Amino acid sequence: MRKDKELRVNEHPILGSAEERPRVKIKVDDQWMEAIEGEPVAAALMASGKMVFRYTTRLNEPRGVFCAIGRCTDCMMTVDGIPNVRTCITPVREGMVILTQRGEGRWEGISFEKG
Ligand code: FES
Repeated sequence: MRKDKELRVNEHPILGSAEERPRVKIKVDDQWMEAIEGEPVAAALMASGKMVFRYTTRLNEPRGVFCAIGRCTDCMMTVDGIPNVRTCITPVREGMVILTQRGEGRWEGISFEKG
């Protein structure tokens, strides 16, 4: 992820200036970063320069945002211990923990074993 500057469009020639919105901290792959509260997780990650969100199950190929409307599942990540979260339609909240997903992902801290 880039640390020098955000990749956001804050000044648009037609839409004008982006309004100021509250910032929150999220943790992405063990690194804290700032995001705008309520923006899609995928938008926050792309603004920081992160473009690979998961690796496919069989061929371990990188995937990132493709449709950006919640239909293709290319942007799935593990969010707060829950795998397969479509980050392009998931709003950012303070303190979220987001992990790049490998394959089908794992439920962190949740056991499905009987007994
Ligand atoms: S980019 Fe297609 S579901 Fe998120």
